[in-house]
Amino acid sequence: MISTAVWGTGNVGRAAIRAVEAHPALELTSVLVHNPGKVGRDAGELSGLDYRVGVAASDDIEAVLATKPRALVYAASGDIRPDDALADIVRALRAGAIVVTPALYALYDPRNAPTEIRDPVLAAIAEGGGSLFVSGVDPGWGNDVLPLLISGLGSTVDVLRCQEIFDYSTYDQPDSVRYLVGMGQPMDYQPPMLAPTVPTMVWGGQIRLMARALGVELDEIRETLDRRPLDATVTTRSMGEFAAGTQGAVRFEVQGIVAGEPRIIVEHVTRIHPSCAPDWPAPADGDGAHRVIVEGSPRIEVTVEATDEDGNRAAGGNATAVGRLVSAIDWLADAEPGLYDALDIPLRPAVGKLGRKHP
Ligand SMILES: NC(=O)c1ccc[n+]([C@@H]2O[C@H](COP(=O)([O-])OP(=O)(O)OC[C@H]3O[C@@H](n4cnc5c(N)ncnc54)[C@H](OP(=O)(O)O)[C@@H]3O)[C@@H](O)[C@H]2O)c1
Repeated sequence: MISTAVWGTGNVGRAAIRAVEAHPALELTSVLVHNPGKVGRDAGELSGLDYRVGVAASDDIEAVLATKPRALVYAASGDIRPDDALADIVRALRAGAIVVTPALYALYDPRNAPTEIRDPVLAAIAEGGGSLFVSGVDPGWGNDVLPLLISGLGSTVDVLRCQEIFDYSTYDQPDSVRYLVGMGQPMDYQPPMLAPTVPTMVWGGQIRLMARALGVELDEIRETLDRRPLDATVTTRSMGEFAAGTQGAVRFEVQGIVAGEPRIIVEHVTRIHPSCAPDWPAPADGDGAHRVIVEGSPRIEVTVEATDEDGNRAAGGNATAVGRLVSAIDWLADAEPGLYDALDIPLRPAVGKLGRKHP
């Protein structure tokens, strides 16, 4: 069994504990938390499992790393504290762990990561013998392994479009929704997540991964952005009111330009309420979906709708991000130490999981 620690117990960390528990080759050995109120609580309770796991959460990073977990799912926040997250990950790599995480945008495409991020990671891998794989859903499998797999079914392929279409009122991250993305803010507010170059910082790596796999040269990466105000004040289930006239929907694209044309596209359509921007793409049903459209001959469209934690699509998306990462751990355990990306690591079937009950 591969001893595995989970660091952080938010949306991703909860799903990570459940995924490690469900994986036949992995054994959950530690849970690290930041919130003092979670110290000492059982991993089963923290992750929403209906049984006790027998692993109590700890805030003692040194002690947990001293137990030499073979693998570690880093699920603490990285977007709001990137330098600290990098330092945590480097520390775990230096202790020899295989680290998988969705938390560092710059390392989704490690070949093009800034040297101040890449170099300490490579040094820690050389010193400790661990490995690192950074991925998720979007950025992640929704714009690397899934579209690339589906592209292989086309005869002619003109455009590869990856869409995330979500109602963010289901996303349990009120600060991100209101301030990073700007839902409910006046239309002259500049949401940090949508500032020029930021979408490329987050999703540009995915465009480069797809271009590399498809064997094409990118001329450049461009961004488009469209925002719509709410026509009427709306009340959401978990985040209260959003006023008429404030931002209610956002649509942006990060475009890989090939021979002068946008041909590899990551598109996000995000609403705080279905009434806003009804003419923009919407999920067939429910609150969110990931979709791949291969424009060409034939035209191919695949929509993935994942649900978890009582029918929640955002939780479903997070759980699939975790699924991609946790199912890479045993592959990484058999591979040489290194810094890997989504093109290196195959998405494999759920070997050993079908019908498996917790012992
Ligand atoms: N690409 C993708 O597909 C994808 C999908 C989802 C999330 N993400 C990324 O994954 C990361 C986690 O997302 P999430 O939705 O799980 O966030 P979250 O629900 O806010 O959880 C983050 C956790 O980080 C820990 N934390 C907070 N402040 C900390 C600090 N100062 N020091 C150490 N730990 C701290 C807390 O865990 P404890 O108190 O429990 O330790 C918190 O529960 C984010 O960086 C997010 O951008 C990526």
